[in-house]
Amino acid sequence: MKVFIAGATGLLGKRVGKLLLAGGHQVVGLARSEANRALLESMGAEARPGSLFDKNEMIAATEGCDAILHLATKIPPKTRTTPKDWRENDRIRTEGADNLTGAALHHKVGLYLQQSILFIYGDQQGRVINSQTPLAKRQPFPLRSAVAMENIVNEKAREQGLPAITLRFAGFYGPDSAQTQGMIQAVRKGKMPIIGRGDYYYNLIHLDDAASAVAFAVDNHESLMHQAHNVSDFHPATFAGVIRYLAELTGGKKPGHFPAWLARLFLGGALVEVLTNSYQNRTNTLAGWQPAYPSYREGFEQVVSQI
Ligand SMILES: NC(=O)c1ccc[n+]([C@@H]2O[C@H](COP(=O)([O-])OP(=O)(O)OC[C@H]3O[C@@H](n4cnc5c(N)ncnc54)[C@H](OP(=O)(O)O)[C@@H]3O)[C@@H](O)[C@H]2O)c1
Repeated sequence: MKVFIAGATGLLGKRVGKLLLAGGHQVVGLARSEANRALLESMGAEARPGSLFDKNEMIAATEGCDAILHLATKIPPKTRTTPKDWRENDRIRTEGADNLTGAALHHKVGLYLQQSILFIYGDQQGRVINSQTPLAKRQPFPLRSAVAMENIVNEKAREQGLPAITLRFAGFYGPDSAQTQGMIQAVRKGKMPIIGRGDYYYNLIHLDDAASAVAFAVDNHESLMHQAHNVSDFHPATFAGVIRYLAELTGGKKPGHFPAWLARLFLGGALVEVLTNSYQNRTNTLAGWQPAYPSYREGFEQVVSQI
């Protein structure tokens, strides 16, 4: 298939592009700079320009493609954020999804794949969830546009026959993620605090496995169609358990605990809410796909060996 990827130059998109090319697909990536054009071409992909926020440019950029993957994100790099910091990411999720689904319908592609996030299940008080579990009714501000994005995709699937698959990813980590590197450094220095008791569950997915799940969904899209699928390693662990394991692995100091009220003051209520919401994703609906790193233990061992 000829597969268009918005976000082809990101941590997830680059991995997906390489896997699809290795699997015999053609890849067309959205390039917003000369450097990214060169990067995509060096991978063996075709680079096309355009703004995600311009419907006609997205129709032009996706011309001749059989599948469209929306993997673009712009997560603010700082921890304490306001709604303004999320504005571009909100636009990528909503206007981006609207324009790319529009292009998908215009070209009558066989697959539209939407990246989404597991966090929108909200606080399930540690219960086991699956992709049928209703989403939280109230969402903190960084997550509202993820629900709006899913609604855009679902409405076009329902009313216009968009051939859509949504993948809700757990928290990404990988050796080349600045976020992961920052976390490892903080753990090494004993500066990664555990908010409250740390007994809430943390659902994770190594970036290599997130990418292999996307490639699997492209190859098996007919059997996965018109559904949301949760993508994690299916071995959630408590936040405190993960941080303690990382401290052991890196020779870091014993992590301390931080009262939730203090964490809210420093990190903001929205982030604390997202981090401490508790649920366990243990059901794999991508029958035939398995993560290479079955839990955070093997995954972070690989990460720490690489950085
Ligand atoms: N589930 C999760 O935990 C989760 C979910 C999403 C993101 N993240 C964060 O992101 C990292 C994961 O990798 P990722 O690939 O999602 O993010 P990434 O490496 O930041 O890549 C983002 C991609 O989106 C593109 N993009 C950004 N703004 C755009 C815009 N306005 N229009 C079109 N494309 C745009 C970027 O293109 P350019 O190269 O042109 O900027 C890039 O290709 C993690 O380290 C984490 O910090 C985490």
